[in-house]
Amino acid sequence: MENSQKAKVLVVGGGGRCHAIVDALSRSPKVGKIYCAPGNAGIAAQAECVPLKDTQVQELKDFALENGVDLTVVGPEVALAAGITDVFKAAGLRIFGPSKAAATIESSKDFAKRLMEKYDVPTAAFRTFEDYRTAVEYVRGGSFPVVLKYDGLAAGKGVVIAEDFARADETLKDMLLDAHFGEGKVVVEEFLTGPEFSFMCFVDGEKVWPMAVSQDHKRAYEGDKGPNTGGMGAYSPVPLITDEDIAYSLEYIMKPVAAGMVAEGCPFKGVLYGGLMKTPAGVKVIEFNCRFGDPETEVVLPRLESDIYDIFSAVTDGTPMPEIRWSPKSAIGFVLASKGYPGSYEKGFAIEGLDEAEALGDIRIYHMGTAMKDGKYVTSGGRVLMVVGFGEDLKSAQAHALKAVSCIRCDNLFHRRDIGWRVL
Ligand code: AMP
Ligand code: GLY
Repeated sequence: MENSQKAKVLVVGGGGRCHAIVDALSRSPKVGKIYCAPGNAGIAAQAECVPLKDTQVQELKDFALENGVDLTVVGPEVALAAGITDVFKAAGLRIFGPSKAAATIESSKDFAKRLMEKYDVPTAAFRTFEDYRTAVEYVRGGSFPVVLKYDGLAAGKGVVIAEDFARADETLKDMLLDAHFGEGKVVVEEFLTGPEFSFMCFVDGEKVWPMAVSQDHKRAYEGDKGPNTGGMGAYSPVPLITDEDIAYSLEYIMKPVAAGMVAEGCPFKGVLYGGLMKTPAGVKVIEFNCRFGDPETEVVLPRLESDIYDIFSAVTDGTPMPEIRWSPKSAIGFVLASKGYPGSYEKGFAIEGLDEAEALGDIRIYHMGTAMKDGKYVTSGGRVLMVVGFGEDLKSAQAHALKAVSCIRCDNLFHRRDIGWRVL
């Protein structure tokens, strides 16, 4: 294909997830130019970074029009919740991602729970409250731990698992009285147990195409201790999750939810992410997201053998989906985060040894939060890098990835060494 016929693609976002999307697009023979807004220092090696934030929806639309962008792919939920898809479509632009209405499946826990209830999708029992006193009385009469979820986007910080009444009371005050998160509702949910896994699917209306399953590690420290983070590592596939579990999740969770969205008048187009738990009573939904997961995407997309541009196009245009093939190789990724993360942290520390790490082969390093200073990479975010290793099985992938991690020198990074502990 001549370069002039190749597609120009704009990826919106700037973390490790977008780096993995850019990386997958750059493997497509149909893709010529890739822009990424705002991108980051690592992404800049594979795409032209555009200094626009993911929420500058109008400016992004103008950029796409002025630069003849053929397809835009959206990473972060904030852009989707801000209605980027609707704005681009109104301007006649092709964009991969759900409408603002469909993105509600992530931005409102209450919407997601009511949808699941209506369409008989297995999830934790729940009730929604707007009033602090009623919520407290309900919780007082129930069992512990109990799960409290703020009904809105809270950057992964809106969920509290309260071990006892005092903690539940304090949380409800925080969420409903102090308007700490802004006016809102709280979903009070039954506490479920079992291994969690991430099941991302490409969805176009009622049509659902599953991706390879992965598992995130949300806690900051080894042994699943410490505060919740955006994710400290991930791997794919997940041997704990059987083919039967996947078939069940597709038939009884993802497909009915996709059909439910159509029936509710807000058909979903894009990536529907099921945060699922394999409980003793079967697979149940913990949450839905309206986009690729981060850091899951960094271990799932490198295993994709099909052309991602074709997949994005099939969903966006409603044209036939090509066969979606996955590499049998295992992938496991370690997040290198700034010391102090998920709390406050300093930026600007030099990072060295990236070339050495990648020279080991069968390694991909995705930049989550880096910048370039005097020709060198420096830290510029809470999560900084995701080092992904590949191997015949998870054990060899893990050993390989850890070897690469040990090549990377920086004074202000930490990582968990036990990513994959549930299966290794
Ligand atoms: P979410 O933001 O909904 O993904 O919740 C964050 C984390 O809280 C999840 O990954 C789970 O580990 C935990 N969690 C959420 N809901 C429940 C539940 N009903 N039972 C047990 N753990 C939960
Ligand atoms: N890794 C969890 C998420 O993307 O929401």
